[in-house]
Amino acid sequence: MKKITIAIDGFSSTGKSTIAKQLAHKLKYVYVDTGAMYRAVTLYAMRNKFITEDYLKKDDLINDLDNIDLSFKFNEKLGYGEIYLNNENVENEIRTLDVSKFVSRIAEISEVRRKLVEQQQQMGKKKGVVMDGRDIGTVVFPNAELKLFMNASAEKRAQRRFDELIKRGDKVTFEEILKNVEYRDHIDSTRDDSPLIKANDAIEIDNSNLTLDQQFSEIYKIVKKRI
Ligand code: C5P
Repeated sequence: MKKITIAIDGFSSTGKSTIAKQLAHKLKYVYVDTGAMYRAVTLYAMRNKFITEDYLKKDDLINDLDNIDLSFKFNEKLGYGEIYLNNENVENEIRTLDVSKFVSRIAEISEVRRKLVEQQQQMGKKKGVVMDGRDIGTVVFPNAELKLFMNASAEKRAQRRFDELIKRGDKVTFEEILKNVEYRDHIDSTRDDSPLIKANDAIEIDNSNLTLDQQFSEIYKIVKKRI
């Protein structure tokens, strides 16, 4: 079996990371959650007051980028790598609605993207990787052997995100989650640098009406033909 690169892109909360983790586990591949990297930079920007509801100090963040170190450490119990920001595990903190509110504005900054894309390319250069995000099949690995583009209705996606946050104990409403999902999709797909678009050779999967098992078996059939 040859090792390949699997790029999974798509709109917010389409279940990209769930399928990516399942595939990585089954194939014994490395899983890289690139959204976690943009979220960790956003958390750094929030902690240092480079971004608030009122302003974005873009140049200050750009000048400080060398002080941001991101890494993934494999958690045996969870079965995937958790993200560390300057050696601190921030896996939980990056998933809050507050970070979600700012992340797309941070992800618009080309200097941020350049830094993260370079690291992502390094992490995937030996292949045997499943990477999910917005620009994996178009920018990070345009030659990936398999590209998937995930989609689902905005309501379904917001419901999944809402259920996840409620399970964690966060106090959020369905309406604000739906608004955030739609807001991020709009910014992510209309930004100048690396907008979210389906690569020409990506296979589109709409999982609005698929169970996780159905989705996995449909996608695994496709994967098996490429390895
Ligand atoms: O995947 P997740 O929803 O955690 O991503 C958070 C945000 O990070 C996205 O809404 C997008 O703004 C940004 N992102 C990106 N490019 C990627 C991955 C995420 O711009 N490859």
